[in-house]
Amino acid sequence: MELVNVFDYEKLAQARMAPPLWDYYQGGSDDEVTMRECRAAFERIKLRPRVLVDVSAIDMHCEVLGTPVSMPLLIAPMASHCMAHPEGECATAQAAGRAGTLMIASTVATRTIEEIAQAASGPLWFQLYTYPSLKVAELLVRRAEDAGYRAIVLTVDLPRLGNREKDRRHNITIPPVPYQEANFVDVEKVGQAWVTLTWESLAWLRSITSLPVILKGILTGEDARLAIEHGVDGIVVTNHGGRQLDTAIPGIEALPEIIEAVAGRCEIYFDGGIRRGTDILKALALGARAVLIGRPVLWGLAVSGADGAFSVLELLRKELELAMALSGRPTLASIDRSLVKM
Ligand code: FNR
Ligand code: LAC
Repeated sequence: MELVNVFDYEKLAQARMAPPLWDYYQGGSDDEVTMRECRAAFERIKLRPRVLVDVSAIDMHCEVLGTPVSMPLLIAPMASHCMAHPEGECATAQAAGRAGTLMIASTVATRTIEEIAQAASGPLWFQLYTYPSLKVAELLVRRAEDAGYRAIVLTVDLPRLGNREKDRRHNITIPPVPYQEANFVDVEKVGQAWVTLTWESLAWLRSITSLPVILKGILTGEDARLAIEHGVDGIVVTNHGGRQLDTAIPGIEALPEIIEAVAGRCEIYFDGGIRRGTDILKALALGARAVLIGRPVLWGLAVSGADGAFSVLELLRKELELAMALSGRPTLASIDRSLVKM
């Protein structure tokens, strides 16, 4: 059977994974209102296509913080790829390279920073959790720098883990045993909690690295302004795929006020609920420079490792290409706010 869209991968991936692992990947917090809204919000936004535009050639190459990518679609940081496939994050990195795009590797990956860099043929960013201590976090940043990662993505929406009731019912730890947080082998885990960050923590991060810093987890214009005041290079507008504060606003509805607050002073990316080429188009029209996808990459991995993850990326590329053609927007520069009606 041909897998024609990401939902086909979702079904097949579910059939291949043990329910507790599947539920960890799929689940959200509390009643999963925000998680559902991530999708519903996209479906509410309507497109205003233009016609009689020459769309014989579609160009979606772009740059993120100066790094060229073949399309405005990157891979979101996610824990525990080895639950989907034994090669885990190394397979994901190969898929990203083949697709000409960038992967953000998670602090809580099941392959090490160095293993992922070795497997990768494309650019990498490193997502940082200050866990279990700032001292360990500093070591991770150093390792990422040495391995050639080009930016630090500091996730700021997880001062504590959200209430994932499915995981509690399955009684699983995160990540589930025996999937090891590869970066922490031999690291003494004092406390085991995420260190609480404040705006002052950005000075600490700046003091330990000269890599560009991106904040992931901003949902308001107020915080976007503070991020700019603290000199960040990028922002990911996201609600963590509905896994943290339930009933938090869908990112796509927060995007306009953040674009307005930032007024071009840093790059803005978006994630949460991207499942179609038209979703990418809508996020770009509302001002995102690029989007990230989370769960669909894990579905591709679960179905057939690096090939599956690559196929998911290519499938979304084709959908975006078609959506650009059908809306009369052959270049990224031609995708503007007038394309959407909210
Ligand atoms: C995540 N996410 C995440 N974010 C992060 O900054 N560090 C992490 O380690 C993880 N881990 C993680 C694990 C799993 C299984 C999921 C599904 C998500 C959040 C992720 O980066 C992203 O914000 C959302 O997944 C995007 O939503 P979609 O595309 O999954 O709907
Ligand atoms: C999650 C964390 C680890 O969403 O980011 O599961």
